[in-house]
Amino acid sequence: MQLFLLKNVLAYFTLLSRYGIILYMKTLSQELFNRLLDWYDRNKRVLPWRGSPSPYEVWVSEIMLQQTRVETVKPYFTRWLSAFPTVRDLAQADEEKVLKLWEGLGYYSRARNLRKAAEIVVEEYGGNLPCDKKLLQKLPGIGAYTAGAILSIAFGKTEPAVDGNVLRVISRLTADPFDIMRDDVRAAIADRLRPFMPETKTSEFTQALFELGALICLPDRDYRCGACPVRDYCEAYDKNEQDRYPVKPIKNPKKEEVLTVFVLEYKGKFALKRRPGKGLLAGLYELPNVYGDLKEQDVFSLYDGTVRALPAAKHIFTHIVWNMKGFFVSLKKPPESEGLFFVSPEELNREYSLPSAFSAYKKYCK
Ligand code: ADE
Repeated sequence: MQLFLLKNVLAYFTLLSRYGIILYMKTLSQELFNRLLDWYDRNKRVLPWRGSPSPYEVWVSEIMLQQTRVETVKPYFTRWLSAFPTVRDLAQADEEKVLKLWEGLGYYSRARNLRKAAEIVVEEYGGNLPCDKKLLQKLPGIGAYTAGAILSIAFGKTEPAVDGNVLRVISRLTADPFDIMRDDVRAAIADRLRPFMPETKTSEFTQALFELGALICLPDRDYRCGACPVRDYCEAYDKNEQDRYPVKPIKNPKKEEVLTVFVLEYKGKFALKRRPGKGLLAGLYELPNVYGDLKEQDVFSLYDGTVRALPAAKHIFTHIVWNMKGFFVSLKKPPESEGLFFVSPEELNREYSLPSAFSAYKKYCK
């Protein structure tokens, strides 16, 4: 009973805060969105997932586009669609093949979730994504934003898709002082946009906002207000305070880690290892490595062979930075370390997905 009361009180405050935010935000007008739609019609980029994409195509493209640039995604999207043309093909795919096609895009849980969700879509919905926000959001990897994109772009529903681009655009247009990382702020922005979505142009509406954020209303100081079709409606432009928005929480500095990576060669083959099933890059392959800044003498004590130092490299994850140094070791005999196995350069390229963090050293595996 007490828990029930507490839950209701919490839900009440969440709603209050969401509508409080809406009341505070400056007005948006239909005229603004009409201008935006006009501009989109004349300026939109030709992208492989544009035109009349299926719900599956929108889903795949939106998952790939999370944290990843459009230019990077283009070839991945095309390769993915020829390997797995339908949800059913994806559901039946081998996880290794799925990860191989994702190699270099990062955040591999996105690929695993796509496959897992495809299985559910086949089992529960006969291979067709459901046209329902709640059901979509129950699928692994699909949140409010992806559900909104699928519904508005492929199903013609008036459901906004609020991603980082849209948050930035709306936050500048309305000089919104709220922290855009808060869920209630995102939900409030979606609530504000919904009434302006024309029923016949839901896809264009969603993509016009993406496009404005990608081409004109760029992050930091890179905004191009001179070319903006809606600057007359923009509070931030009016006050010349574009770089004050969007408001974000102060970031904690990333944790710096030092690693020594080994390219271990034995009879023309190279050593790989599988990472643990939990944590950073869970379950993916890696080049053997250890924490710490090892010297050449240390390497001799680990491996029997000739040793050559490789250039240092750095990889930046969301919360961690890897500062790496590397050694190429031509082994006289295979090491006895657990979990190591050797593959030819062709096998490495064809079958094993090695995260981008190792790309500075992967190139020596030949
Ligand atoms: N960023 C996120 N989704 C996008 C889309 N569909 N087109 C272009 N950029 C995007």
